[in-house]
Formats: sequence, C-alpha cells, structure tokens
Amino acid sequence: MVTVAVTPEASGETRAAITPETVKKLVGLGATVRVVAGTAATSGITDEALAAAGATIVGSTPEAVGGADILLKVRRPAPDDLKGLNAGGLVVAILAPFDDRPGLDTLAGTGASLMAMEFMPRITRAQSMDVLSSQSNLAGYKAVVDAASMLHQAMPMMMTAAGTVPASKVFIMGVGVAGLQAIATARRLGGIVSATDVRPATKEQVASLGAKFIAVEDDEFREAQTATGYAKPMSEAYQAKQKELVAGHIKTQDIVITTALIPGRPAPRLITAEMVASMKPGAVIMDLAAERGGNCELTRPGEVVEAHGVRIAGPLNLAGTMAVNASALYAKNLLNFLETMFDKKTKAFAVNWDDEIVKGTLVAKDGKIVHPSLQPKGA
Ligand code: NAI
Repeated sequence: MVTVAVTPEASGETRAAITPETVKKLVGLGATVRVVAGTAATSGITDEALAAAGATIVGSTPEAVGGADILLKVRRPAPDDLKGLNAGGLVVAILAPFDDRPGLDTLAGTGASLMAMEFMPRITRAQSMDVLSSQSNLAGYKAVVDAASMLHQAMPMMMTAAGTVPASKVFIMGVGVAGLQAIATARRLGGIVSATDVRPATKEQVASLGAKFIAVEDDEFREAQTATGYAKPMSEAYQAKQKELVAGHIKTQDIVITTALIPGRPAPRLITAEMVASMKPGAVIMDLAAERGGNCELTRPGEVVEAHGVRIAGPLNLAGTMAVNASALYAKNLLNFLETMFDKKTKAFAVNWDDEIVKGTLVAKDGKIVHPSLQPKGA
C-alpha cells in the first residue's frame, strides 16, 4: 500500500497540496494519506474535513513523512522535510527548478525522485495536470480585480444624470493563460481592452475576447512561437520596434497588466522608466512577471512602488490570495498526475519512468539531477 504525506508549507505560502476531494480519490485508489494538522487551514479546509474524507491527521512533519512513499507539496520543501521518506520516494511540487541550484542539488542528494509540476508537458493528456495554467488563470483574474480597486476611477462607462463616466482603458501585455483571463475579466468589468504578444496565435484569441490586438507583426513575429507553444526571446531589433509601439500606446492607458514570460529566462523588459513617466498620473501597472524580475523596469517584486504618479505593483503569489480556488485546482492537478501512476485494475502503484509526463517532470532521481534543461550547457 502506498502512503502519501502532505506537510505544511513554509510561511507565506497560503495554498495547500490537498483537499478533501483529492484525499477521497487517493484513498479510493488504495493510498493511505497522512496530513499534518493545520496544513490546509489557509485554504479554508479543516482537519476534520480532511479526516472525514479519509486522511489520517498527524502532529508533525516527521510523523507524516516517516515511511511515506510520496510527499506532496505546493513549494519546494527543505531537505530536512524529506527525512524518513522511503528510499527513492517521490516529491511532487512546484519546485522552481531554475532557482537556487545549490538548494536543488542538496534536495536531489537525498535520493528522492523530484518531480516539478511546472515542467508538465503541454500535451492534451496532461492539460488537467498543468499547474501553470490552473494558477495563472486565477492570477490573471485577480490582477485585474486588484488593479481596478487601486484605480481612483471606475472601470465601466456610466451614463448618469450628472454626466458620463468614461470607461477605463486596460492594456494586457503577454497573452498566455494569465493574459487571456485578464482580458476576459477586464472586459466583464467594462474596460476598453487592448493586448499585445509576440506569438501570432494570440491575435485571434485576443480578437475573440473582444479586445484590440496591438503588435509588431513582422517576419520575426510570425516565427516567435516554439514547438512547445512558448515565446522565443526576441531580437534587439524587434524589441526596439516593440518599445516604440508600446511607448505610443501606453500613454493613454489607465491599467497595464503585464504577464510576459519566457521559460527559464528573466522576464522580458517591456516597460521602461521613460514609458512610466509618460503615463497618466493615477495609472496602475500590475506586473505579474515580478517573480522573474518583472516586465517593467521599475517593478520591485513583492512591493507597490509609485513613480511619476503611477503605481506599480509586483505581486508574488496572486494565486495564493485566492487559496480556496488555487488549492482546489492545484490539488486536482496533483491527483490527476498521481492517478496515472496507479494500475486501474490492480490498484498497484508503479511509476512508468518511460511515460512522457513522468520524464518531462522528473528533475532528479537516485541522487542526480536528470532533467535535460538542468544539465550544464554543452553537456
Ligand atoms: P507564459 O507564462 O510562458 O508567457 C506569457 C505570455 O507572454 C505568452 O503568451 C508569451 O508569448 C508572452 N510573451 C513572451 N515574451 C513576450 C514579449 N517580449 N512581448 C510580449 N509578449 C511576450 O505563457 P503561458 O501562459 O504558459 O502559455 C504559453 C503557451 O502554452 C500558450 O500558447 C498557451 O496557449 C499554451 N498552453 C498549452 C497548454 C496545453 O496544451 N496543455 C496549457 C496551457 C497553455
């Protein structure tokens, strides 16, 4: 019988890797689930609810992890948290594998099989396991709601006896999962929405959500999407053209939401200090790329700064501010992934190391970092 452990996150992380629904399913698959008391409290989930679903509530991390086969986390755990995990046990989490390499090496040194949920291949079969999507979608929504509440004016146009309140203008930069949800949310609130991206596929998506698409559509733009669906880093010449276009557009905007990312790289700098200075006083920039350095030159990760009367927010864990939904979706992503490792008939747990989604997410095994994207360059 396989034992799954779930332990508290480090302070600051409000999300949890388990819900009563996923406990029930894991128990149904034949697993024993041990959860440290209070682990999911910030997601509005009581120990009683987890116990009622079939979990065993324990008092400490060592009690949960000792003799367990799988440790489920939201964020990368500390090596000490793995003490007692069965040899070769699985650790499944959002591991941030490109951050703190020495820390990752130490964790790999425990011999556990480390699986990074953010490396989930973007194939149809794995859509229900895609944490980048589940969490970015929530972040895109919350970015607009938060920006709207920071703004000292209304979002929708209002015709009143005392005069007309004009609609706010919202510009979304980067139209991946977060950007698409941001467009939809800003439209629902009545904003006049425009958006930009470097991937041509986004043009139609933006139009279908009723927003205006703005981009430098040259030959490089037509080639900007990689086979895996992500954006390529753009050339300096493209970036210069893009800056010129953005500089002209941004002056008239009330809210700018930036979400532009390139996997494994610092976020592209799309808004310069000069552009901020040209914006309307009272405008708000919500920089969702803050964790990777920010799309705006003036962003300070985790802070709200004011420059030239413009407020620039660099939230670090927007999904975590909606922990109820974020945990429900994240725990479901984990469950859907784990389910593939159980034999449907015999209920036996056996990892198929040749499975594309296992290979794609596996960062370390038997004490070594094994993921191709984490090998030294040229190796
Ligand atoms: P992301 O978080 O990596 O990047 C956000 C957006 O920033 C992307 O649309 C990207 O093109 C854009 N961007 C990058 N550099 C830029 C620049 N210099 N200027 C303007 N925009 C820039 O993207 P996300 O949300 O992870 O989505 C990436 C792709 O994966 C999309 O095509 C999405 O539809 C696809 N996807 C596929 C899934 C599946 O098949 N399972 C699941 C989720 C997303």
